[in-house]
Amino acid sequence: SRVDVDPAAYEIGEHESFMHAEMLDQPRAAERVLRGRLDERFGTSHLGGLNLDARELRAIRRVKILGCGSAYYVGQMGASMIEELARIPADAEAASEFRYRDPVIEPDTLYVAVSQSGETIDTLLAVQEIRRKGGRVVGLVNVVGSAIARECDGGIYLHAGPEVAVASTKALTTMFLAFSLLALQLGRVRDLSIADGKRLIAGLQRLPEQIQSVLDRDGELEEVAQRLAEADSLFFIGRVRGFPVAREGAQKFKEITYRHAEAYQTSELKHGPLALISEAVPTVALVPDDELVERNVAALHEIAARRGPLVVVTHEGVDLGDLSAAPGTHRIDVPRNEREIDPILLTIPLQVLAYHAAKHLGLDADKPRNLAKSVTVE
Ligand code: AGP
Repeated sequence: SRVDVDPAAYEIGEHESFMHAEMLDQPRAAERVLRGRLDERFGTSHLGGLNLDARELRAIRRVKILGCGSAYYVGQMGASMIEELARIPADAEAASEFRYRDPVIEPDTLYVAVSQSGETIDTLLAVQEIRRKGGRVVGLVNVVGSAIARECDGGIYLHAGPEVAVASTKALTTMFLAFSLLALQLGRVRDLSIADGKRLIAGLQRLPEQIQSVLDRDGELEEVAQRLAEADSLFFIGRVRGFPVAREGAQKFKEITYRHAEAYQTSELKHGPLALISEAVPTVALVPDDELVERNVAALHEIAARRGPLVVVTHEGVDLGDLSAAPGTHRIDVPRNEREIDPILLTIPLQVLAYHAAKHLGLDADKPRNLAKSVTVE
């Protein structure tokens, strides 16, 4: 389509594929989206492109985020961050559903459209419908001058650089960071303290290096991926902040490996999916060191009791008890950041796992069957 990058004009040097090059570019992409936008003195962000002054930001009563696929899942991560930092009710919805259900558009809601390409037809038509009804929409978009960017009242460009691989990696990471900047600003015009603003800024500043440290563990992740690739069906589980991460992990895995990968809330396991757990069905579990850690570890025991193999993405120091010694368990510790920023660090190893699983299966991660980089027609 007209938004696709010409791969011939895009240098990936020694990299074996676009997805590989784009995954490894994430620390730089993170720096690009943050550059010039952090205000260390006042613990807030500068987002001139939003076209909203402090009074208008303050008048927002609700935030509704719209996107498709991975852009929708990162929208769910963004909604949590906005609720936590700004204490404004926020939620994300698939743009592909929203546009068909005759939504109520409210004047004091900020609508946020999220899209790498800026051309996804469902997201574009959702934006047009909101604006037709007088709603205000800002875009988190990568491609400059794309249709969604032009239709919105303002926005934040992602500066991820060109993304060619169908499976989104660096665009998703920059979307998450754009949400952090937005949440910070919405928070700081309300009750988020300057100290909390500074705490988050310091967290954002150490993120590129932490992303790099996860990417550096390629060999270890490749081994785990090879084992996961042997399964026909997998679960990805997480709860609260970890659930959209699980959804994104399952999405990436199924997109490029053609394995059945299903995301579930860890809390919902006992309401159905436990029936499917067996030696043949591995679970990738997100277990960040947060207020739910003990409950999450208890759920892992339920899986282990049914001999389900486990890959636990967690933080150093989290006590998995006797699960650590179980032969079917593999643990991946990611670096800790601030709790609001942790979801993106939990996401990175899931991209690497999907990438290596596809490679192990001899599949071309850049061009999965039946999928286009951007869905621009109905
Ligand atoms: C991501 O890995 C997928 N290929 C897909 O879900 C994608 O995120 C979705 O189609 C939205 O695309 P966009 O960001 O260009 O709007």
